[in-house]
Amino acid sequence: MGTDQVRVLFVCLGNICRSPMSEGLMRTLATSRGLGERLVCDSAGTAAYHLGEPADARTRALLRSRGIDYHGRARQVQSDDFERFDWILAMDRSNLDALKRRCPPSLQDRVRMVLEPTSGRSVQDPYYGSEDGFERNAEELVPALNAWIDQWF
Ligand code: 4NP
Repeated sequence: MGTDQVRVLFVCLGNICRSPMSEGLMRTLATSRGLGERLVCDSAGTAAYHLGEPADARTRALLRSRGIDYHGRARQVQSDDFERFDWILAMDRSNLDALKRRCPPSLQDRVRMVLEPTSGRSVQDPYYGSEDGFERNAEELVPALNAWIDQWF
């Protein structure tokens, strides 16, 4: 077991629904597994629609229901993210494609689908749906996030 920090960036389209949810859930999972100091989490969007906005109220409610207070503001992926983060985990195929187009060739291996350790599928965009979609997102994310932690530590 190494002592280095692992840095992970979660990426969706708007950085207000799925990637802040992943960031909040991951931080809490890491803390509950005694890895809070070793796992650094952040999130960003491929699009700029919601820059500076708080996370969607439905994501904040879902996180709050699990005891997580989330205060992040939406930002867009920037070029130096590819060097700054060890892992860049995309929510869906479209986010993955956008990231791969921007990522330097030598760093492409860092860019993965967040559900790669479980189903390998996309986390469906919940924005235009009901709260159920957010709940389903979290149910898919938690096992995958735990599997990433298992792989890294
Ligand atoms: P996210 O969800 O990518 O999970 O943050 C979305 C948020 C906003 C929009 C689409 C998806 N939008 O079209 O504004």
